[in-house]
Amino acid sequence: MTPKLYHLLQRFRADLPLSQAHTIPASWYTDAELAEWERRAVFTRHWLVAGRSDQVAQPGQFFTLDLAGWPLVVVRGEDGVLRGFYNVCRHRAARVAVAEQGTADRFRCRYHGWTYDLAGNLRGVPEFDGVEGFCREENGLIPVQVAEWPPLIFVHLGQPSCSLEEYLAPMPDRLRIFTIEKLHFVARRIYDLHCNWKVFVDNYLDGGYHVLTLHRSLAAVLDYKHYTTETFRYCSVQASPMRAPDPQREDASAAGVRKGQLAAYWWLYPNFMLNAYEGYMDTNLVLPLGVDRCRVIFDFYFAEQPGTPQSEQYIAESIAVADRVQQEDMEICEDVQRGLASGVFDTGRYSLRRESGIYHFHQLLAQDLRSDMK
Ligand code: FES
Ligand SMILES: [Fe+2]
Repeated sequence: MTPKLYHLLQRFRADLPLSQAHTIPASWYTDAELAEWERRAVFTRHWLVAGRSDQVAQPGQFFTLDLAGWPLVVVRGEDGVLRGFYNVCRHRAARVAVAEQGTADRFRCRYHGWTYDLAGNLRGVPEFDGVEGFCREENGLIPVQVAEWPPLIFVHLGQPSCSLEEYLAPMPDRLRIFTIEKLHFVARRIYDLHCNWKVFVDNYLDGGYHVLTLHRSLAAVLDYKHYTTETFRYCSVQASPMRAPDPQREDASAAGVRKGQLAAYWWLYPNFMLNAYEGYMDTNLVLPLGVDRCRVIFDFYFAEQPGTPQSEQYIAESIAVADRVQQEDMEICEDVQRGLASGVFDTGRYSLRRESGIYHFHQLLAQDLRSDMK
C-alpha cells in the first residue's frame, strides 16, 4: 500500500455514533488507486450475486459476467453440478465464453482454439507438441466458489468466512411474506452510469430521503412518514407501508403496478438490491466499470404470467415505472459524481432520521478496505 492510499483510508471515522459521523470523503469515489484496492479488499471477500437460477437450470447452460473487473463464467455441468470459473483462457487470457448466456457442451476459446470441458478441464490444445514442462492437467480454468439461493446464483472470489445462508440472514426469512418463489423472471434492463458504484448504492440507502423530492410517482404510493430502515450484519432493509394516491393532486402512474400493504427494499453488501411488492420484484446488481463508471443490471420478476394482452400491458407498465425512477436516480447520481470530483466537496453529514443505512454501508466498506492495511 502506498502512503497516499494509507492516508486516504485513514480519512473516515467508522466508530462514531451516527449523530457525530461524517461520510466517507469524496476521494473514495474518485481515486483510481483506491478503486483498484477496493476490487480486491471488498469484492473478493464476500458472497456476490452473479446471475439467476433460470440461466443455469439445465445441464450445459452458462452465463458470463464481469464482476468488478473479474471475468466469470458460471455453468451447469453435464453431471448437473453448478460450477464457476474465471472466464480467462490459460493461453493468452482471452475469455473462453463470450455470450452473456447460452448453452454449450464445451468452451472453445475463440482466439487460438483451446478447448475446456464444462468442469473446466483443458481438453484440446492445438499445435502445442514439444512444449516442455507443459501439463494439460495444470491448465484448467481457475475455479471460483458458487452457491445458490433461488432465484439467485452467488459466487465467492476468495475464501468464504461464512456460508451463504449466514451471509444472507435474516433476508430470506423476512422475505417469506412476499412468496418470491412464486415469481418468475420476465425481463432484464441494463443501465450504464457515469458515476462510482458507491454513489448509486448511497442513493439507494438514504432511507427514502430523496423520494418526495425526486420520485413523484413513488412518493404517491408510499406512506413516507412510516418509512423505516433496519440494518443487520451484511444487509439492510428499508420498508414502507403502501397507500392509495390522490389522483387529483398526485402522480398516480405507479398505483396500478405497485400493490400490496408493504414495500420492502433489501440491500445486500456490497452491491445488490432486491425490491419487493405484492406479486412483483426487481433486483439491481451494481457493477463497477472503473472509478467513475458503473453498470446496473435490473432483473424483473412477476407473479403475472406473460402471454395475454392484459398481462403484457401490465408488465410493460410496471417496467416503465421502474425505468422512470431509474432515470431520475441516474441523473442525480451522475450529478453527484461531478460534485464529488469537483474538488469543492470533501465530506458530508448523515440525517439521523433517514440515513443510517448509508453509514452502515460506509462502516462495512471501511472495515474491508482497512483489513489488509500494512
Ligand atoms: S487465448 Fe485462448 S487459445 Fe489463445
Ligand atoms: Fe431513488
